[in-house]
Amino acid sequence: MGCVLDKSVEGKHLENETPTPSDLSPGEEPRLTEEEIKMLEDCWITLKGDIEKVGVITFIGLFETHPEVQDSFLPFRQLSKKDLELSAILKSHSLRVMGTVDKCIARASQPEKLRDLMSALGQRHISYSAQIEFIEMVGMQFVYAIEPHLKDSWSPELRESWLKLFRVMTYYMAKGMKSTPTKTS
Ligand code: HEM
Repeated sequence: MGCVLDKSVEGKHLENETPTPSDLSPGEEPRLTEEEIKMLEDCWITLKGDIEKVGVITFIGLFETHPEVQDSFLPFRQLSKKDLELSAILKSHSLRVMGTVDKCIARASQPEKLRDLMSALGQRHISYSAQIEFIEMVGMQFVYAIEPHLKDSWSPELRESWLKLFRVMTYYMAKGMKSTPTKTS
């Protein structure tokens, strides 16, 4: 059985509108509905076999549309697209991000658990020098990465559910980041 992402989506995200942080900015605490959770669970089963690819495409798309994010990731500064694609560090971070998506879907009906997980992750991202504005861009790029491959099962509701999941994730990451005292020296 062929994988969901066999057909390359190279450059696809560039045809789309430029994602803006304001689309995903944390305002009021976002909550997933039961229908949204069910849609995400079903879709995730389809995508699960290809998570490394989905993650890498997500981050390459993010770096192409927002080179400042690539520059903020020290090991990736100056790397060409080819080198990025081969980068073990990029693959490893992409897998970790997808692993976090997996955990968040598993905790989607228990918002306190999801909050604790993501808030702690947000706190750790301060020491990784990852700005919240950059983290907020990941959800839109993830949607660009999966959309072309879910053809028949794609819908505006599914798109909104994925964006909302990332909104929930980044909302709590932002809270964790804000609650972390900044170093003074
Ligand atoms: C939804 C967005 C993101 C998620 C879920 C996420 C998740 C993770 C996870 C699970 C780790 C492993 C270490 C740990 O658990 O503390 C990690 C590490 C890291 N993240 Fe992220 N991340 C996200 C976005 C970003 C962005 C946008 C940047 C930079 C611009 C970034 C930079 C880093 C760095 C530098 C590390 C440490 C090195 C590494 O493990 O590759 N992250 N991230």
